[in-house]
Amino acid sequence: MAHSDEELINVAKDVREKAYAPYSDFKVGAAVEAEDGTIYTGCNVESASYGLTVCAERVAIWKGISRGEKKFGRIAVVVDTEELTPPCGVCRQIIWEFCGNVPVILANLHGKSETIMMGELLPRAFDSKFLK
Ligand code: THU
Repeated sequence: MAHSDEELINVAKDVREKAYAPYSDFKVGAAVEAEDGTIYTGCNVESASYGLTVCAERVAIWKGISRGEKKFGRIAVVVDTEELTPPCGVCRQIIWEFCGNVPVILANLHGKSETIMMGELLPRAFDSKFLK
């Protein structure tokens, strides 16, 4: 754990500014820490063909995977909502795949944050152990 939760939240806040969200106007930033401490960031990227939209969490994880990372630790998700916004169902599955039962740090722009374990967000998850 090379970075503090605050550092992870701050880089997620910064990348949130880069979100391409002209349709929903709902900007999301995510930052995930790889095992060696490298941080990968992602923002949501929407499409006029709405269903092609990719969430911030997956963009961050795909960036790390494409750089050769295999496993990540904590992930921070920043949204400008009063009630802290958790990852969508699809992202929960992907976070479970590449991060496992890690702390998920939810934060907003006003200094509010909360940490929830992935096992709580995705109980009884389907994963590779069922494929053996
Ligand atoms: N979004 C994320 O980036 N992450 C989530 O976990 C929830 C939803 C994005 C997708 C879309 O661009 C916008 O938020 C509204 O759904």
